[in-house]
Amino acid sequence: MNEHLSSPTPKRADPKPKILIVDDEPGIVKLLAEILRDAGYSCLGCQSSLEALRFISTQQFDIVLTDVHMPGIDGMELLRLVREEHPHLPMVMVTGEGDIRVGVQAMKEGAYDYLLKPLNFGAVLMSMKQVLDRKHMEEELENYRHLLEEMVEQRTSQLGRALARIEQNFEETLQALATALELRDNGTAGHSRRVLTYAAQIAKVMGCTKEQLHSITLGALLHDIGKIGIPDAILMKKNSLTPEEQIVMRTHVIRGYNLLNCVAFLEEAAEVVLTHHERFDGTGYPQGLAGAEIPLGARVFAVADTLDVMTSDRPYHQATTFAAAREEINRQSGKQFDPDVVSAFLSIDAATWEDIRLGVMGANSAGSADMNLAFQPYNGENLRFFGANA
Ligand SMILES: [Fe+2]
Repeated sequence: MNEHLSSPTPKRADPKPKILIVDDEPGIVKLLAEILRDAGYSCLGCQSSLEALRFISTQQFDIVLTDVHMPGIDGMELLRLVREEHPHLPMVMVTGEGDIRVGVQAMKEGAYDYLLKPLNFGAVLMSMKQVLDRKHMEEELENYRHLLEEMVEQRTSQLGRALARIEQNFEETLQALATALELRDNGTAGHSRRVLTYAAQIAKVMGCTKEQLHSITLGALLHDIGKIGIPDAILMKKNSLTPEEQIVMRTHVIRGYNLLNCVAFLEEAAEVVLTHHERFDGTGYPQGLAGAEIPLGARVFAVADTLDVMTSDRPYHQATTFAAAREEINRQSGKQFDPDVVSAFLSIDAATWEDIRLGVMGANSAGSADMNLAFQPYNGENLRFFGANA
């Protein structure tokens, strides 16, 4: 890549424009150099293209003024070679008397200008000035392009930071919503966060995509959001629910679905919320879906939810051990749970699940605002429930 494309042209110590004159006739080189020096240019002359290429590779020039007809590498070939290595170095070609076609061809191949012999020195000076003006304009455009690129880079970076802040605010808002719900639903403190973490672990073992992980974890966090619409008398009832009360309680899945489905980026999570009480054998609610009819997120959630319910103290039962929960979940494989999800769940041993729970509980009791602490998976990787967008 040519240096002019990647950075603005550096300034030389000598402010005079520098011209390399190439002609196999020493007399012409000398004469041109005298005229151009008188006009305020700095000049260097040589009699062959090879010499010219050596100078160009070690020194910086503003213009190369070269004869076309020279022995060895002629001016046209020199033009091609210089264009390859220094595409922004202006070349002006000097052609024989009446040799306009060669001049036109040189312009097509990238020469800035051509001059006809015998040389009119006024025309030479005019050409040099025009070429320099064009070169300066091109350099200014190049510098402006660099400036624009830097501005775009800065703006992109600022936008990225703003989006990250919005995403973080969104996570914290949803977490606060889930926590508020748990405060109302006695005995389930921390449940959503633990289930979210368990579901994410299982989903990762199953090789779920980031997008699937996103909807599964969001659905797990908000699975009981519809309980907001359940009357306190039913939601907080200490004794068993009557059949009529159970019907009302079961509406929480539809209430939750309706609540989330109107938000575009929560649509897939809403599906998990709607189906989180379906069972693999088709005996769940609200639709009695079976097998793969149940969204994967809900099948993963079912195992994660049961694990937490069994291993947590609730008003109506005492916590069991993780080993006992694993056995019970295994027994329900193919009935309440998807066997593939159960296999993924069982691939993580009871002690590890217990460590995961302690990790989540530790983050909760510390009152940490950093949700990453709550979502620290067993393999040490950070896991946020917005991992799909990271
Ligand atoms: Fe529920």
